[in-house]
Amino acid sequence: MRVVIDCDDAAVDLKKTIVAHLEKSGVEAVDLDYLGSHPGAFYPEIGYNLALKIQDGTFERGILICGTGLGMAMIANKVKGVYAGVCHDVFSAERLRKSNDAQVLTMGARVIGPELAKTIVTAWLASEFQGGGSLPKVQQMHELENKSFESK
Ligand code: RB5
Repeated sequence: MRVVIDCDDAAVDLKKTIVAHLEKSGVEAVDLDYLGSHPGAFYPEIGYNLALKIQDGTFERGILICGTGLGMAMIANKVKGVYAGVCHDVFSAERLRKSNDAQVLTMGARVIGPELAKTIVTAWLASEFQGGGSLPKVQQMHELENKSFESK
């Protein structure tokens, strides 16, 4: 599996830690390093850049890290067909895949430490959408999303 990852200036160290963790786990991590080519960039354009690569199918899973994880989740969710959630605990990370079928995990480098972040990433990667009772709920989200994008 290939996972795309990026961060803003608040999370450079944690991103490096997660990239190393993914590679150690046998998962290819593609670091977009938007900041490297756009110094001073803010989290919205960084998150948007990654979300477009989920939307167009280049990657199936992405990780975005900022100070809180909140801004990255908000901007990723503005891209049609992309679903992101901020997780700072393992249970939520599992449910983000199993119940919500989200492709993008966001975390806050100012909220959690590197060891918990690594555990969260591992749990999230090991989890898949379970369908069942969650399927009509996710389908409803897609329907409402389509409605929202069409009406504006
Ligand atoms: C810092 O720019 C901070 O606002 C950002 O990293 C993030 O926490 C936003 O949600």
